[in-house]
Amino acid sequence: MKHILSADQFSKQDLEKILTRAADMENILQKGGSKIAEGKILATLFYEASTRTRLSFETAMYRLGGNIISEADVQFSSQTKGEVLADTIRIVGGYADIIAIRSPNIGDAKLAAQYSPVPILNGGDGPAEHPTQALLDLYTIKKNFSKLGTQKLTVSFVGDLKYGRTVHSLIKLLRHFEGISINFVAPESIQIPEKYIQPNDTLINTLNSDILKNSDIIYDTRIQRERFEDLQDFLNVKDAFIFTPQLVNQMKASAILMHPLPRINEITLEVDTLPQAKYFEQAQNGVPIRMALIAESLGL
Ligand code: CP
Repeated sequence: MKHILSADQFSKQDLEKILTRAADMENILQKGGSKIAEGKILATLFYEASTRTRLSFETAMYRLGGNIISEADVQFSSQTKGEVLADTIRIVGGYADIIAIRSPNIGDAKLAAQYSPVPILNGGDGPAEHPTQALLDLYTIKKNFSKLGTQKLTVSFVGDLKYGRTVHSLIKLLRHFEGISINFVAPESIQIPEKYIQPNDTLINTLNSDILKNSDIIYDTRIQRERFEDLQDFLNVKDAFIFTPQLVNQMKASAILMHPLPRINEITLEVDTLPQAKYFEQAQNGVPIRMALIAESLGL
């Protein structure tokens, strides 16, 4: 049984195996899918809003020939009656062969894993981690920079780096690869937490032309309104960085602009047709990555 709880759990060898399996899954998808998970059930327990993560997990299971059961709205869950997560997981683990969970609470995926008789896949736990997103981000990077690990790359994370769980998980994965320089670009109040910083990283508060011109990968993020305790703190930073064609045109022709989505106003719609814009391709990569993760976790 293989839980996927944190980006910390992967070795470089694990990452290479998952990326290779995802590429195989992409070939399988082009041929119409597979039946390797026939008879298996994925439960999706999403106690926080989601479009991409839940639906791509569910698509992945269908494309593998399996089925899904879903609790997509906490309002209709017995958790609203006071049931504790441990009990929910014990019960759902008796119905399904694997569980993907999203929760607003840090550590809930790990807690679920303690009680689950089946593999747990962390689909995001509060502001802490989003490891399956990080894997699809890494897959997107590898598809665009095939020499990842043997070429020099500058990666700039921009936006809400304090609460952006996808950033926290992706940084951990990138640390396995040689030749990567990291810039953290954020207002002071939402800069990257200290535990993610290494001595050679650069922290700045402004998105200047050096960052735009020298980055190979810009990973932008939404300012996560729902995580702020004080609305005014959110309002102070909500429009800190807005990618327009004028800014994106300063990036190298070979550079890519990523974003885990959803975006609000931090990338204007006019950017979508520029060659650097890779965020929709990135979101599509969620299906082969999650097919690979379901298959690996189930030992298929
Ligand atoms: N990237 C991501 O986690 O999107 P959703 O919140 O829509 O699942």
